[in-house]
Amino acid sequence: METNKTFTMIKPDAVAAGHIGAILDKITKSGFKITALKYTWLSSEKAGQFYAVHSERPFYKALVEFMSSGPIVAAILEKDNAVEDFRKLIGATDPAKAEPGTIRNLFAKSIDANAVHGSDSDENAQIEGNFYFSAFEKF
Ligand code: CMP
Repeated sequence: METNKTFTMIKPDAVAAGHIGAILDKITKSGFKITALKYTWLSSEKAGQFYAVHSERPFYKALVEFMSSGPIVAAILEKDNAVEDFRKLIGATDPAKAEPGTIRNLFAKSIDANAVHGSDSDENAQIEGNFYFSAFEKF
């Protein structure tokens, strides 16, 4: 299992607010290399599949609706200790609890509209990256 890759999405709230460039800049300036990148819009079916792990949670329906409400940016990122370092860079899931200077502290509005997703394990980073990108789209 690779330990130097993670997966992220810039969510519909941050895309709509015009933060794609600022967020990608912060990510690359923090030492992550972008090895795959895609601007796309998830159907509710695809959003439901991506977040299937949360299907029993009370917020699942709202999450799927929100994630299919507008375009997103998906990316695979490379850096030593990628999953943990990226979770530090984005801050807590609830932006009200995110450390100052983290991406969610700077750009997120609420726990639902929380600007970015970051994988929670090396295994999920691989699954999530493969959800979006074929072997010909990773460099
Ligand atoms: P993300 O890292 O993309 O993974 C699941 C998402 O569900 C999470 O970010 C939040 O945007 C959303 N969510 C909404 N409510 C909750 C909650 N109570 N706990 C965790 N995630 C939540």
